[in-house]
Amino acid sequence: MVNIPSRSKLGKYWNLRESTVFLNHGSFGACPKEILAYQRQLRDQLEADPINFLDVKAKELWAESIEIFSEFINADKNGLVFVPNATSGVNTILRSLDLRHSDEILVLDHAYQACWNAVDYVTKKSGAKTTVVTLPFPITSPEEIIESILNSVTKNTKLALIDTVTSPTGIRLPFEIIVKELQSRGVDVLLDAAHGPGIVPLNLNKLQAAYVTGNAHKWLCTPKGSAFLHIREDRRALIRPLSISHGASVDGNINEKIRLEFDWTGTQDPTPWLCIPKSIEFVGSLSDKGWEGIMNHNTNLAISARNTILEILQTPKLCPDSMIVGLSAVLLPNSNVPLTSALEADPFHTLLYEKYNIQVPVFAWPHHNRRYLRTASFLYNSLEEYQYLAEVLEKEI
Ligand SMILES: Cc1ncc(COP(=O)(O)O)c(C=O)c1O
Repeated sequence: MVNIPSRSKLGKYWNLRESTVFLNHGSFGACPKEILAYQRQLRDQLEADPINFLDVKAKELWAESIEIFSEFINADKNGLVFVPNATSGVNTILRSLDLRHSDEILVLDHAYQACWNAVDYVTKKSGAKTTVVTLPFPITSPEEIIESILNSVTKNTKLALIDTVTSPTGIRLPFEIIVKELQSRGVDVLLDAAHGPGIVPLNLNKLQAAYVTGNAHKWLCTPKGSAFLHIREDRRALIRPLSISHGASVDGNINEKIRLEFDWTGTQDPTPWLCIPKSIEFVGSLSDKGWEGIMNHNTNLAISARNTILEILQTPKLCPDSMIVGLSAVLLPNSNVPLTSALEADPFHTLLYEKYNIQVPVFAWPHHNRRYLRTASFLYNSLEEYQYLAEVLEKEI
């Protein structure tokens, strides 16, 4: 068996299997042992007295979590609610909107397919239209992205689904400018910040996007099933949760209704959301420069990872280094492997995993008719892991 490179010295804080080269923080994150232990404590408290925990204790911790998280992303806590994942956040907005025949929703040709599907679902149902913005590719500057998006706006454009960091291609979009430009043209933005908190600095009060959803379970490393949705004040009356529950029949002003309706959508385990403050604090303490230090570290590692891999692959850079954060995708050279559907594992992914113990996403992106390999970089990764991947690529491509 090949020699598996070691993780960084911070790897000891995670449960990741030692024999796996884990280069896919991007899909589901990875939760440190300390946070999992805290979650277990909370679950033990829940099961010791489910009624008291869910009716009293969880509510206190929930309010604290909303408070601390809203400070982390500088958001108005009255518009901040928890959802299980970014897919639910996107669906919540789309399925609350009253679309007309003439309305158009913009999506980028780098949008996460599940969210794009949700846009198609609502436009199809209402007779509205999905407009796909084809971004120039490879990207040479943030300006050309902004220009292609703005060129696709018509008088009917009602909403745009914009990513903070694109999923298939790992590109940090100039979302702050895109939001400002679109909204000044009367187009609401639904910001898909699935790769948001912990990978890019977020300042929702400054951004003023109509809607922002994102995950804590990716780059904040909380347990899975921990995400948020933020609704700007002037849009709060329009938006209802995906599950209509008890809160619907309780009176209150708009901010009370948001809490009543979104904070209880039926019985579920609230502990992933309750761990957010602990994750912000614990993971943040792993760099002496806090979260800013973590984001910078991951960005630098992602750029080095990309350079190391491209030296072997010799395919063009998909974007400038300045548009890389913790993710970096590379184009795979032509191969005889057929394009697979989103739900099937790419055979090359399987080969890397089974033969070399490398867990890294390899997938076809039919909208570009290309195949990408996307590495993620988090505190526990080491440069040697990408060098090992590059050596394997040299042998197998
Ligand atoms: C850009 C983007 N949006 C949405 C999602 C969906 O996240 P979740 O599965 O947590 O709903 C992802 C997941 O990778 C993503 O990358």
